[in-house]
Parts: sequence; C-alpha cells; structure tokens
Amino acid sequence: MISPATPRTPAGVDPKALAAVRDLVARAERPVVLTGAGMSAESGVPTFRDAQTGLWERYSPEQLATEEAFLADPALVWSWYLWRARMVRGVEPNAGHRAVAAWQERVPGLTVATQNVDDLHERAGAEVLAHLHGSLFAFRCAACDAPAEVDVTALGDDDAPGSEADLEALLREEPPVCAACGTGRIRPDIVWFGELLPAAEWDATYAALDACDLCVVVGTSGLVQPAASLPFVALGAGAPVVEVNPDVTELSSAVTHRLAGPAGLVLPAVVG
Ligand code: OAD
Repeated sequence: MISPATPRTPAGVDPKALAAVRDLVARAERPVVLTGAGMSAESGVPTFRDAQTGLWERYSPEQLATEEAFLADPALVWSWYLWRARMVRGVEPNAGHRAVAAWQERVPGLTVATQNVDDLHERAGAEVLAHLHGSLFAFRCAACDAPAEVDVTALGDDDAPGSEADLEALLREEPPVCAACGTGRIRPDIVWFGELLPAAEWDATYAALDACDLCVVVGTSGLVQPAASLPFVALGAGAPVVEVNPDVTELSSAVTHRLAGPAGLVLPAVVG
C-alpha cells in the first residue's frame, strides 16, 4: 500500500533518484531553486527553444531580443514583448510554481532565482531574489534609462489577450517616447542578447549558490550564458545539484541527480 506521505513517482522519473532528492529536500536549510522557461511551460507560456507559433515562427529569439532588432524595427519588437506580457497576464501559475512557494514557506532560507521574465513565481506566493533577465512588466527608456510605466492591460484586444487578434492590434502600436528625455523610445526592461545581467541580482544569486546546501535547476536548456554557469557555483561549493527537466540538457551530465519529468508533476512529488 502506498502511504499518503509518499507521492506517486511521475512517469519517466527514476524512483531511486526521487527518493534521494526527497531526502535532500527534507534536510536542506539553504536551498536555491534556479528556474528557466520550462518552469512556466505547463502554465501555457511557450519556451524559447520550442517551435514558436503564428507570426513569431519566422523569428528566432536572437532576432527579436536584441538592441539591434529594436532599433531596426521598434514596433515589431515592442509588439512581441507586449504580446508576451499580455499572454502571461492571461495564464496562471502551475503546480510546480505552487510547490516552490510551499517549500519556501516551510524553509524561509530558500532562494528563488529565475531567468524567466514572467511573474508566475510571485503569483504563486514565492518571493523571488532575482529576475536575472528582467521583467515583462518593467520598462525603461532605451536612451536615458529612466524607468517608465506601461499598462499592458490597456493595449491590444481586450477580449483575447495573447491571441492572434490581440497581436494584430498590438502590431499597430509604436513604443512610446520617453517623458523624461523626450527623445528615447521606451523598451522592456529585459536583458537582451549582448547586454549585461543586472549586477546586484547576479551577485545575490551567486552568493546564495556559494552558501547553499542544495540547488534545484528547473526547466532550462542551459544554453544561454552566463545564467547557464550558475549551477556550477553550487557544485563548486560542494552542494548537490538536481535537474528537473523532461529532456537531457547541457547540464545533465554534471548534476548529482536528474529527475526526467515536467516541473508541474516532479516538483510537487519532490517537495510534497
Ligand atoms: P529554453 O527555451 O532554452 O529551454 C527550456 C527548457 O525547458 C528545455 O530544456 C526544455 O526541455 C525544458 N522544459 C520544457 N517543458 C518543461 C516542463 N514542463 N518542465 C520542466 N522543463 C521543461 O529556456 P531557458 O533555458 O529559460 O532570455 O532560456 C534561457 C534564455 O534564453 C531565456 O531567459 C531567454 C532566452 O533567450 C532572455 O529573454 C534574455
């Protein structure tokens, strides 16, 4: 008979690895959870390396997430980010986000650092130390850096945020001119390819990993540096590193335990 305290092992996950990770989780006082796009996939937010849909299948992230792309076609890049922001507004945190939040409530020393620009960890109730790649809901001037307010709910097609109809409406939007300097265009406060990560958030994440007793890496391909190097800080500090991802990644061969399944099933089984 399965005891109520032992959750079912998700399909594809090695039960011995799951038991070992549950043991590590039960003992950890300063765990760090590092998350990437796969964390939000089950909420309906497409990952970056998944096939994109609609208009966006014509572009790679590198063609949209750069300053060059914004300067060449501000309206296109602006509409991509507004579309993503509105899509995220229309989805909910999944069981994986809720498991991380519940774990943090139980273990206040738990740190969450994410590459994700959505707010689904926070909406599940977790406190996030670092958004390493910025936020879909923060904006600043591309010229003078002054912060700007943009109400993403007031743009696009109100009835269908994130839909193709919404996108049609958003494609007619130009990024506003900065009220502070009067010349620069407003851009999302997101780290684009070729730009530096926010120093304070990077340093805080690095320090947490250097002092952690467990690191759980969820839903990242490990392809984008420097974030991809962060699990190695934990390994270098002697902490076990667990990967939660249905697919093998660049990181897989280096980790202590690999749990091959989706975050929304694996994290509740690990933490519950
Ligand atoms: P990717 O899109 O590169 O990788 C997503 C990873 O999530 C893949 O390894 C998938 O196997 C995994 N995955 C998919 N579904 C999953 C699920 N349900 N549970 C767990 N894992 C799942 O996303 P990132 O590694 O986050 O940068 O991408 C890194 C950065 O590249 C992003 O932050 C973004 C992008 O360009 C910026 O926006 C600056």
